[in-house]
Amino acid sequence: MATLDPDGAPHDPVVRPSQHADAQVNGALALAKRLGRPPRDVAEDLVTALDVADLCLTPEVAGPGFINLTLRDDALAGLLTDLTSDRCGVRPAAEPHTVVVDYSAPNVAKEMHVGHLRSTIIGDALARTLTFLGHDVIRQNHLGDWGTPFGMLTEHLVDSGLTDGDAVGTQGAAVSDLNAFYKAARARFDSDPEFADRSRARVVALQAGDPESRRLWRILVEVSTTYFSDAYDRLEVSLTDADYAGESTYNDVLDDVVAELEAKGLLVTDDGALCAFPPGFEGRDGEPLPLIVRKADGGYGYAATDLAALRHRIRDLGATELLYVVGAPQHDHLEMVFAVGRQAGWVDDTIDVEHVAFGSVLGEDGKMFRTRAGDTVKLAELVDEAVGRARTLVEAKSNDLTPDEVTDVATAIGLGAVKYADLSSDRVKDYVFAWDRMLALTGNTAPYLQYAHARMCSILSKADPADASAAGVDAVQITEAAEHDLAMALLGFDAAVHACANRRVPHRLCTYLYELASAYTTFYEACPVLRAEDPAVRRSRLALCSLTASVLACGLDLLGIRAPTRV
Ligand code: ARG
Repeated sequence: MATLDPDGAPHDPVVRPSQHADAQVNGALALAKRLGRPPRDVAEDLVTALDVADLCLTPEVAGPGFINLTLRDDALAGLLTDLTSDRCGVRPAAEPHTVVVDYSAPNVAKEMHVGHLRSTIIGDALARTLTFLGHDVIRQNHLGDWGTPFGMLTEHLVDSGLTDGDAVGTQGAAVSDLNAFYKAARARFDSDPEFADRSRARVVALQAGDPESRRLWRILVEVSTTYFSDAYDRLEVSLTDADYAGESTYNDVLDDVVAELEAKGLLVTDDGALCAFPPGFEGRDGEPLPLIVRKADGGYGYAATDLAALRHRIRDLGATELLYVVGAPQHDHLEMVFAVGRQAGWVDDTIDVEHVAFGSVLGEDGKMFRTRAGDTVKLAELVDEAVGRARTLVEAKSNDLTPDEVTDVATAIGLGAVKYADLSSDRVKDYVFAWDRMLALTGNTAPYLQYAHARMCSILSKADPADASAAGVDAVQITEAAEHDLAMALLGFDAAVHACANRRVPHRLCTYLYELASAYTTFYEACPVLRAEDPAVRRSRLALCSLTASVLACGLDLLGIRAPTRV
């Protein structure tokens, strides 16, 4: 090889997936340029020198100088042994991090809207995947539980006679329509000056720590978190009450955070307000953009809380990786908070902080997703509809499930459909919420994958016990092209999971699972499993079914989606 490389510099072999082989090595092109030689000649020399006979068939030079590599079937079967553990061949992260995932974060006394649904679904998939890779994941539900609206909300609570803290359940019913409660408070605030005055006085009392005001505020928070926690349970997401770390958590440290920023010379008084001007942020007029850390009236807002949260997560929680799963419109806010964190020295080169942004949810009319009446879609109703529609699907297809099993399967499929529709599209883009598409049994949907998985389980359960017990990975022998392609697809799981976690792209994992299920379908059509005459072939194919079912179930689980064995 030395003759090929006069400076002894290492070369990236540029290994890529290929339509024509298992892998394509494109590095000869760049090398040829450096050597001033025809690329095909360089590729031929490389192939002659390459010692891969134990792994690959004879490498082929193609096109301008690509080298096509095809794994030998026996070598490929051997590689599948990596997949047998419950990690399905996924290597743990080389360097485990402490990762804070900030997600969901709905607002108290307001209905969770579809934006929060996206954050919840995407955040949960990332949290699960990162955990699976061995990272120490700390979920932080940055609940909107503080700020000026709480003056009017508290006063409205008082006027509605709902101030008995022991009866949060009752209040739950009364405040259950959170949006209506919020709107009513807002309407009174806008129309009744006496109410508005009381509300403003209440904010001051609340901020000063007045016990009665705090008690009333806590009722609002409790009613809301009870409601949110119930929504998380119904959605089968992994957030728990222990993950609530609302804005109010930081109240006591805001003075200190501001003092620190001031001491570091990062704050400027602008029109009475204390502002940071992190470099690189300009308004349309080219003027530097302020991040308002303390308002002119002395109150703290969203930015101060986020600065305190950032410091806390790095300094106290020990996070080295921080993901903020928040809608795209908050990009500037978050980037400015991160920039101030960098100026303050909290975020340095060892810390990775990232806004994991996502687009809006649109209705089929291309406008913001709303009910027919134009209201925001309530999460509970959305879940009910998903499960109801899935139930119709399940009832039409299967006749040997008990009523309880139908409910369980319909829940798995309905939730799966909603989550997968969100996760499978590139998160930064807007996505169109369409029931028929997300519940379709063909195409890149959760129901397609769930049904494929259940069919695999069904084949395994129908196998002769002697075959089933002998269908371990050692039984795999690959002869058919479709078996080869399926085995190659199975080996791709590791890369898909790492990409999903490291590049924060759940849709990459979805695409992978879809391609795996497609490779399985091709295999199943071309290669009889239970009907194969040779027991060795039967067992080999059963083993491939079993591995595919495990990888599918594992992948769906990382996305927060269940894979029932019977549907
Ligand atoms: N509660 C906010 C909202 O509903 C989202 C909070 C996101 N997280 C954060 N650290 N700012 O828009």
